[in-house]
Amino acid sequence: MRILGISGSLRRDSHNTMLLRAVADMLPPGARLELFSGLRAVEPFDEDDEPTARVPAGVHALRSAISESDRLLIATPEYNSSIPGQLKNALDWASRPRATSVLYDKPVAVIGASTGLFGAVWAQAELRKVLQSSGARVLDRELPLMQAVGQFDELGRLVDPDVRAQLSEHVDALLGLDHATVAASAAA
Ligand code: FNR
Repeated sequence: MRILGISGSLRRDSHNTMLLRAVADMLPPGARLELFSGLRAVEPFDEDDEPTARVPAGVHALRSAISESDRLLIATPEYNSSIPGQLKNALDWASRPRATSVLYDKPVAVIGASTGLFGAVWAQAELRKVLQSSGARVLDRELPLMQAVGQFDELGRLVDPDVRAQLSEHVDALLGLDHATVAASAAA
């Protein structure tokens, strides 16, 4: 089972990227997480560039990485009560054309870290909305990591066993995501 992790933060010491690295250390046998490193290189969305022959290189790398994965896990910071622009730009590219896009029917979960008290809850809700609109199979739960500065030790490990347990449950739910889960969340 291949999980693609995308951090919505380009920052070198990003807490969201650290959160994804923590996931990589808690996966069950047979599952592995790869971090997508090409977010910065995804070109600005331009509908004129949509015909296949003109897909820019950064977009091609993004689409290939999502396409080759079985699951997608996106960690988002909160920027002005929403998701970072570069992440939205990448998802817009990945969502097109809708019926044949790499996001359509893709099992996806979101997580989010912030330095404040709320753990990027608005950003996660926005991200789930964007993914649902793209036809992805979105896990009907979120994982807010608040006050992220104190949540990691010097080796980048999560210090709180309760947070580790919540994250592990979240990832297990992503791995077990199926159509029935999505149908239930869509009906809710
Ligand atoms: C923020 N931050 C922020 N935090 C929050 O709780 N609500 C918000 O609306 C915003 N808005 C916001 C806008 C912009 C432009 C920046 C740069 C930052 C703080 C932000 O969530 C915090 O720095 C995160 O820890 C960044 O995530 P990484 O880079 O550590 O993964």
